[in-house]
Amino acid sequence: MEVKIETATTKLLDTLYKIEMQCFDEEAFSKRQIAYLLTDYNTIALAAKANTEVAGFIIAQIESGETEYGHIITLNVAPSYRHKGIAIKMLQELEGSFKQRGISECRLEVREDNHAAIKLYHKLGYQTMLKLERYYGKKHGLYLKKTL
Ligand SMILES: CC(C)(COP(=O)(O)OP(=O)(O)OC[C@H]1O[C@@H](n2cnc3c(N)ncnc32)[C@H](O)[C@@H]1OP(=O)(O)O)[C@@H](O)C(=O)NCCC(=O)NCCS
Repeated sequence: MEVKIETATTKLLDTLYKIEMQCFDEEAFSKRQIAYLLTDYNTIALAAKANTEVAGFIIAQIESGETEYGHIITLNVAPSYRHKGIAIKMLQELEGSFKQRGISECRLEVREDNHAAIKLYHKLGYQTMLKLERYYGKKHGLYLKKTL
């Protein structure tokens, strides 16, 4: 299976929203939110295409703190394409884009019980910085960070 990572645009909105709904329940972004994110000037959005089908996508933003940092907003791989290294591929491509822009840190929030995602991020060198109490309604979150 050939997997290509390319920029995601609003042309893919319906497909991305469908995948978002397959990946998240109440935490899923609405179609409107995804459309907004895809068009925001601070956004980097990538889609993974397996042969010609969209298998997953990642959306991140460049945030300004004391220094600029990358912030992963959502990461999704459609259920039928999981365990094939697609999330790793998208994350590596995203990190490369950040580095090209001179950004040396990437941060994200993840639900504390999302063991698959936490394992994935730890594997790529993200470190858990702190617990976010009730960040997802009643559920706690974790704040992770990686120096690129
Ligand atoms: C988490 C998610 C993005 C992983 O996507 P994926 O393409 O299947 O991940 P990869 O194949 O690139 O996996 C890379 C590594 O992540 C970890 N991992 C991925 N899925 C896992 C699972 N179900 N259980 C445990 N570890 C898992 C493993 O360390 C894996 O490496 P390995 O294959 O050598 O064991 C996908 O399961 C998903 O979309 N989940 C729903 C949405 C979500 O939780 N997004 C993240 C929110 S922060």
